[in-house]
Amino acid sequence: MKALITGGAGLIGSLIAERLLAQRWKVFIIDNESTGMQANVPTGATYYVGDIRNPDDLRKSVPEGADYIFHFAAQVSNILSYRDPNEDITTNVMGTMNVIRLGYELGVKQMFHASSMALYGNPQQLPVSENTPVAPVSFYGISKLAAENYMMAWALRKDVEKPIPVTALRMFNVYGPRQSLSNPYQGVISVFIANLLKNEPITLFGNGEQTRDFIYIDDVVDAWMASIDNKRAFNRPINIGSSTQISINHMLDAILSEFGHTRSSYPIIIKPELSGDQRAIEADTRVANDLLGWKSRVPFRDGLARTIQWARTQTV
Ligand code: UD1
Repeated sequence: MKALITGGAGLIGSLIAERLLAQRWKVFIIDNESTGMQANVPTGATYYVGDIRNPDDLRKSVPEGADYIFHFAAQVSNILSYRDPNEDITTNVMGTMNVIRLGYELGVKQMFHASSMALYGNPQQLPVSENTPVAPVSFYGISKLAAENYMMAWALRKDVEKPIPVTALRMFNVYGPRQSLSNPYQGVISVFIANLLKNEPITLFGNGEQTRDFIYIDDVVDAWMASIDNKRAFNRPINIGSSTQISINHMLDAILSEFGHTRSSYPIIIKPELSGDQRAIEADTRVANDLLGWKSRVPFRDGLARTIQWARTQTV
C-alpha cells in the first residue's frame, strides 16, 4: 500500500509514517517545515519539501500515486491564527481543498483528516460527544471546522462517481516525545518543558484555570491506525481524547514538581487571556471505543514523565 502523509515531518504524521513503514507500506511525505523537521522523517519515507497551498507541490510529492492520504499539514496555533488570519485560511481551508482534489485525482481509497477539539469552542456541557454542536470560538477553530466540513461534504457528494470516504479524528490536546521544543507556538506542555530546560520564565495566559484534555501521542497514533479501512469510521467525526479534564495550573504544577520547582521558586509571567482561548474541554470517547475499539491507555502522570524524560535527552 502507498500513503501520502501531509505534515509528515511533524509529531503525529512522522510517527504514523513509522508505523506504516513497519507494515511495509510505501510512504510519501510532504511538509513545508513551518513546524515540522526533516529529522523527524523516518528512513525509508520519500520526502518532499513543499506546501499544500501549491497543488503542483502536492502532485510532485506522490510520484507513484497513493492509495491513502493522511492529512496532517496545518497551521495549528491559535495565537498565529489571529496574527495572520489569511495564512490560517489559505493553509487550513484552501490547502485542505487542494489535498481533497489530489485525493480524487489519485483515486485514493480513504482520506484521513486531522480534526480538532477546537471545533467545540466553549460547550455548555462537558464532556463533549460528537453530537455536541460545533461552535468554534477562535479563528483557528473556524478554519478547522471549514476544513472538516469540506472533507465530509466531498465524501457525501452526489455528483461524483466514486466519493472517497473520510475519517476525521477530532484530536484533543496531543502531547509527548518528539513534540517540538523550539517552537513557542506548539502545544503548551512542550512549551512549558522547553521553558524549564532553557531556564526561561514561563508565561501563563489568563488565570490558568482553563482546562484541557491531554492525550498522549502513542494513544493518538493507535487511534489512526485503528481507523484504516475501518468502514465504521467512515464519514463521521470521532473524538480522540483521554476523557480527563486537567487545568493548566494543575499541569504546570506537575511539570514544575518534576523539575524540583514550585510556583514560588520559578519565574512565571502572567499575561492576559488569549483571544479565542477555550475555557474548558473534555472528550467523551465512547464513539471511538465503540467504532475503533480504542481507549486511551496512558495516564497523564505517566505520559508527562515519559515526555520530560525524553526532553531531557534533547539539545534545546
Ligand atoms: C491545541 C493545539 C491545536 C489543536 C488543539 C486540539 C497548538 C499550538 N495548539 O490547542 O492545534 O487543534 O490543541 O488538539 O498546538 N498556554 C499558556 N502559556 C503558554 C502556552 C499556552 O498559558 O506558553 C495556555 C493557552 O492559553 C491555553 C492552553 O495553555 O489556554 C493550551 O494552549 P495550546 O496548547 O497552545 O493550544 P490549544 O488552544 O489548547
